[in-house]
Amino acid sequence: MPEDRLELLIPEVAVQAKIGELAAQINQDYAGRELLVVGILRGAFIFLADLVRKLEMPVVVDFMAVSSYGQATSSSGVVRILKDVDESVAGSNLLLIEDIVDTGLTLKYLSEYLRAKQPADLRICTLLDKPDRRKVDFKPDYIGFSIPDHFVVGCGLDCGQRFRNLPGIYIYHPGNE
Ligand code: PRP
Repeated sequence: MPEDRLELLIPEVAVQAKIGELAAQINQDYAGRELLVVGILRGAFIFLADLVRKLEMPVVVDFMAVSSYGQATSSSGVVRILKDVDESVAGSNLLLIEDIVDTGLTLKYLSEYLRAKQPADLRICTLLDKPDRRKVDFKPDYIGFSIPDHFVVGCGLDCGQRFRNLPGIYIYHPGNE
């Protein structure tokens, strides 16, 4: 049986340069204000860790865990909150961190859910965006890379929980492709 294959899409050096650019923009936009940075597990953990180390304002970090049902390589759109934010959201400058926005269903749901908690400001920052896959009208405020509709892994993104640790972004080709 043929083996799965990984094709480099965005090298580590380009990912890190982009995270530096995003951090510079966020530092400028939120200068002097405290940020509540909330990562959506599991995929956001690496991007969040890289990004927050480049932020210069006071930062509080929290996480949410969500689960969407469906096949291994696509999102079904049903979002279940497995872990909510622990920090108080009301009045905060809330920056949601994602590894990827695909159909937009997860982030649309989460941003509506969190907006009901009345943050002073709510913005979304994603490392990757796949605008061609959108099922709902949703645009992140900060986007690292807009990419075509490939199944990608690395920098927190997985296939069957593997490959999250890869420092670059790779297109995943299954062995039977
Ligand atoms: C990914 C990603 C987003 C969601 C985006 O999570 O981290 O949360 O899918 O897809 P959507 O725009 O189509 O809703 P995934 O369900 O793969 O879980 P993970 O973060 O644990 O890898």
